[in-house]
Amino acid sequence: MKPRFFKRLSGSPQAVTYGSWWDNASRTLEDAYAATIDRTSEEEYRSRGWHGDWNSPGAKQFLERFGLGPSSRVLEIGCGIARIGRELAPRVGEWHGVDVSANMLSHARARCAGLSNVRLHHITGPPPFTVFPDKSFDFVYATIVFMHLDKEDMFACLREAHRLLKPDGAAYFDTWNVLHPDVQYIWRGAMKIGDGKPRGRIQCSAPAEFRLYLEEVGFAVETLDDSERLVRAWCRRLPGPMPIADDGLPPFGYLCRPGNEETVSGLVTLEGWALDRVARVEVLVDDEPLPQVERGPFRPEVAPAFPRFRPEAESCGFRARLDTSTLSPGSHEIRVMATDDAGRTTCLTGYHHGIIVAGGGGRSQ
Ligand SMILES: C[S@@+](CC[C@H](N)C(=O)[O-])C[C@H]1O[C@@H](n2cnc3c(N)ncnc32)[C@H](O)[C@@H]1O
Repeated sequence: MKPRFFKRLSGSPQAVTYGSWWDNASRTLEDAYAATIDRTSEEEYRSRGWHGDWNSPGAKQFLERFGLGPSSRVLEIGCGIARIGRELAPRVGEWHGVDVSANMLSHARARCAGLSNVRLHHITGPPPFTVFPDKSFDFVYATIVFMHLDKEDMFACLREAHRLLKPDGAAYFDTWNVLHPDVQYIWRGAMKIGDGKPRGRIQCSAPAEFRLYLEEVGFAVETLDDSERLVRAWCRRLPGPMPIADDGLPPFGYLCRPGNEETVSGLVTLEGWALDRVARVEVLVDDEPLPQVERGPFRPEVAPAFPRFRPEAESCGFRARLDTSTLSPGSHEIRVMATDDAGRTTCLTGYHHGIIVAGGGGRSQ
């Protein structure tokens, strides 16, 4: 029998959104129990919401670990039918749940009837969740949600959680650990179902990869537990992305223009970027270094992509001019060498980056 998360909606997979997939999975309360943990009774469900189980922590672990109390404002991303929120709410100041599924939220509303500090929010698109101002929560978590999201969406949720947390706020996230044999088995099983990918698909991350995403957005990972199928991260919000420690690796970067094998003529600008404690950049044409390489803020797209490398990333561009009239027509090899402050050097142009100087018939070797 296929695990429940492989069940499909009719229609083309492209038409299925996160919302419609999860709405379909939660038409009745019994379906919603099954889609969030297992076929079960309300009593058993409440017990798992409090104690947790093999799959996920419960309210008890969150309260104990992070010392939450009557003044704490808490947010769950992908709250389902408030399995955990139903148990947390009586013990904290406010519990907010956001979810893409209106059906899940209506079961959550019924389950939390009488709890005046529960707020449920239907979201129809990706973050930001504009209903919340910056720094409005003491604790944000998402459990058994990220393994159903495309990685870009998972990353966007992490970034949003960081925005919404107060300074030094606490966070918890989990996803499936791709290095665990059971998860490999489940993931391979998902390949066999054919005709496209179900929206509630299986996504998984390696522990180091999950840590990277968390640190990129600005979490200090206090504990990364990868001993079981799940990789679980217990975190604190830092003011910004985790600074990069020296990883012992040489610099990295890119020669952006001219493109590999581009035909050029006249005066040409060679431009790119190099990062990670870069002390020197050399641009060589047919092994001859160009006399001058400028460094500066030439590539504004780099810093937002590598926030952990700020402030270096803000001025990591390099630029050199090449007068191609001094070269013979045909093919010439460009190499860019970047060296860091410990003397570690790398070639940014890999195995080959050529330009073709216009004006000749064939290509020189
Ligand atoms: C397996 S259930 C887990 C529910 C709850 N976290 C729990 O532990 O009981 C996954 C939940 O994530 C929600 N979800 C799926 N994609 C989402 C997205 N892109 N944004 C927010 N919620 C999402 C689903 O609607 C569903 O309620």
